Amino acid sequence: MKVDKCVILAAGQGTRMRSKLPKVLHPLCGRPMIDWVIRTVVPVCSQPNPIVIVNDLEGEVADYLHNRASYNKGNVILALQAEQLGTGHALQCARPHLKGLPRNGYVLIAAGDMPLLSTASLQALCDATKKQDWAAGILTAKLENPTNYGRILRDRDGNIQCIVEQRDATPEQAKVQEINTSVYCFQSEPLLEALQHLTTANDQAEYYLTDCIGYLVAEGKAVGGVCAENPLECLGVNDRVQLAAAAKLLRRRICQRHMLAGVTIVDPATTYIDDEVVIGMDTIVSPGNHLQGATVIGESAVLYPDNRIVHSTIGNGAQIQSSVIQHSQVGAETTIGPFVQLRPGSVVGDHCRIGNFVEVKKSDIGDNSKVSHLSYIGDGSIGSGVNIGCGVVFVNYDGQTKNQTVVEDDAFVGCNSNLVAPVTIGQNAYVAAGSTITKDVPAYALGIERARQVNRENWVIRQGREKK
Ligand code: UD1
Ligand code: CA
Repeated sequence: MKVDKCVILAAGQGTRMRSKLPKVLHPLCGRPMIDWVIRTVVPVCSQPNPIVIVNDLEGEVADYLHNRASYNKGNVILALQAEQLGTGHALQCARPHLKGLPRNGYVLIAAGDMPLLSTASLQALCDATKKQDWAAGILTAKLENPTNYGRILRDRDGNIQCIVEQRDATPEQAKVQEINTSVYCFQSEPLLEALQHLTTANDQAEYYLTDCIGYLVAEGKAVGGVCAENPLECLGVNDRVQLAAAAKLLRRRICQRHMLAGVTIVDPATTYIDDEVVIGMDTIVSPGNHLQGATVIGESAVLYPDNRIVHSTIGNGAQIQSSVIQHSQVGAETTIGPFVQLRPGSVVGDHCRIGNFVEVKKSDIGDNSKVSHLSYIGDGSIGSGVNIGCGVVFVNYDGQTKNQTVVEDDAFVGCNSNLVAPVTIGQNAYVAAGSTITKDVPAYALGIERARQVNRENWVIRQGREKK
């Protein structure tokens, strides 16, 4: 069964996060918390535009959902809860958007701070609610340690009576291990009615959404619960300890997905892969890899330990070690590292070798070229089959503007040369080691710029400096 509307509660201050960033925008595996919830909720709804309750229609959450969301961008209805008077009050603020629903319509409600929820659990809740004609269905979970969650109170026959918050619970009630996950499927009419009867008679003096359940039971309406198969799904994120715990579980899921699709992950516990990342079959990912954003790794690549790869594309069979690669492309069978930095806008071709302590910025490097050690390649365009010796510097900045260096196909640039841009090294040309090149070197020429060497015979003896 698909519900008619989804509501996501995201207006809370998130005080326990102690953050300037709204709680639901804190990222887990590359996605803001609310993004995880929206992705999970939308497939259960007949309409793709969930109602999200926010505390500021122009605030950061609103801006994210309208303009920056990677999923369902702009496709939300924002409802304003200007003052945070509780989860029940939040729903009251969404009332105008719920009024037009069919009499027997269904509303799914979830909190914006539950990034681990699965669509399957939501679907099971909605199906049970419809099938058993409950006025309200609650997704519950049994926790070893239910501290701080609302408890589900049942009568002797196992019928749900109400939900009691931890701070309002008697010691006896606090022993109950079945908790309210904050996910509900309501028939729309009973929901709207229950919302009218909420009071603030509780320890926090707030309007609790949970009190709708007690109200409906007292009215003789059927209320039921569906217990989540995996209680870990129901973790609510209220502080940064829970944020880390939730992120860890998401990482485990992401790693599992890749492993089942044929990627070797040597140690999932120390591998950090964002949700969007794509990895080809038979690639090996060693510990300490951070693969972030919309990164794509090809097949049969080897990521040796300790890389940070952000929004980049890595070709089939590439081998990368202890390097930082951002917004760049690496071709097939190319080896990178250790200790390479590819800064944004770098494109390295196939069968290349970029070796230790090389920095590349906004440069193209053609196929079969080598930059093996200790070089800076900035604003460069390097052809194919080029050899850049050790310690070559592309002198791209004159203090005012950034200039281009072009090294054409099959050229050879000797060690410790400076190529002062703008300058072009022609096809098949050589630059002698130690040269500071300020003029173009034509194709097939040798560019050499250094003083001739003089050897003074027996100088050491004449100076009396010889050691025995
Ligand atoms: C809530 C439930 C509790 C449940 C727990 C599960 C209530 C009263 N309690 O407690 O039974 O076990 O979730 O994680 O509902 N929000 C608003 N406006 C408000 C207050 C909160 O939009 O005025 C939003 C928050 O942004 C958050 C969600 O509602 O996304 C839940 O609020 P939170 O304060 O985290 O409730 P809990 O104390 O966790
Ligand atoms: Ca919470």
